[in-house]
Amino acid sequence: MTYQSIFRPSLFAGQTIIVTGGGTGLGRAAAHELASLGAHVVLVARKLENLEKVRDEIVAAGGSASAVVCNIRQEESVVALFDQVLAERGAVHGLVNNGGGQFLSPAENISLKGWHAVVETNLTGTFLMCREAYNRCMGQHGGAIVNMLMDNERGFPGMVHSGAARAGIENMTKTLAVEWAKSGVRINAVAPGVINSSGLDHYPPWVQASIRGFVQNIPAKRMGTESEVAATIVFLLSPAAAYITGVSIKIDGASSLWRSNWEIDDHNNAPPPYDGFGDVGRGE
Ligand code: ADE
Repeated sequence: MTYQSIFRPSLFAGQTIIVTGGGTGLGRAAAHELASLGAHVVLVARKLENLEKVRDEIVAAGGSASAVVCNIRQEESVVALFDQVLAERGAVHGLVNNGGGQFLSPAENISLKGWHAVVETNLTGTFLMCREAYNRCMGQHGGAIVNMLMDNERGFPGMVHSGAARAGIENMTKTLAVEWAKSGVRINAVAPGVINSSGLDHYPPWVQASIRGFVQNIPAKRMGTESEVAATIVFLLSPAAAYITGVSIKIDGASSLWRSNWEIDDHNNAPPPYDGFGDVGRGE
């Protein structure tokens, strides 16, 4: 399975790019695309199993990848990750902060432990990864970072913790874009809408059905693909985005803009789904 990127094959040749949450879903797709464009991809997550699977997929496709276990919530774990990657690779040129997680719950039922877990994983974890990337490497040599947001423009009912954490990441992205511009570091974010990602599988069937039901309110009248998010991440890491920093790009078929005063008749006219894995769906 060779990933079919729309970008030039050797675009990231000689670069080392860390992708957190690289063992599944959006992280896996971004890792495949970056590796297909010549990057060495460091796949990071808390558990090795999925990382090894994706590493083997990438190597089988002719790419270069390694798998490193790290808990992004723990400072010492993030420091150890950079110790290892810098010892093995010498430099880190790109960072995709895709690793994170949340659970569905009405706000009033969220315990302090649950709140902390989501905020620490998404917001604190992203901060620690950015800080170490900057202090250990990018501050001297420049680099590009892409953070992961969600479609929380109008709040995020059912996931107050993640909506708040992602709002924090978006603001942090703007701050760091200004503070680190002096070192040639660009930092941007992507905000996926309803994506047909393997992340959906973590929800109970009734939630999955409800998420699929959102499609009627998406002006594009379809879900997005993992590859459509990956391509945006790749663009933001690439030299084509050299003058773009501190922004968030929505990948949502205009779903965040839709209002109930505008009925959208069924149509089939959205541009066809783009899937670098070659088979529209999950590419698995
Ligand atoms: N993905 C989800 N949670 C994570 C964590 N704590 N560390 C690394 N990757 C993660």
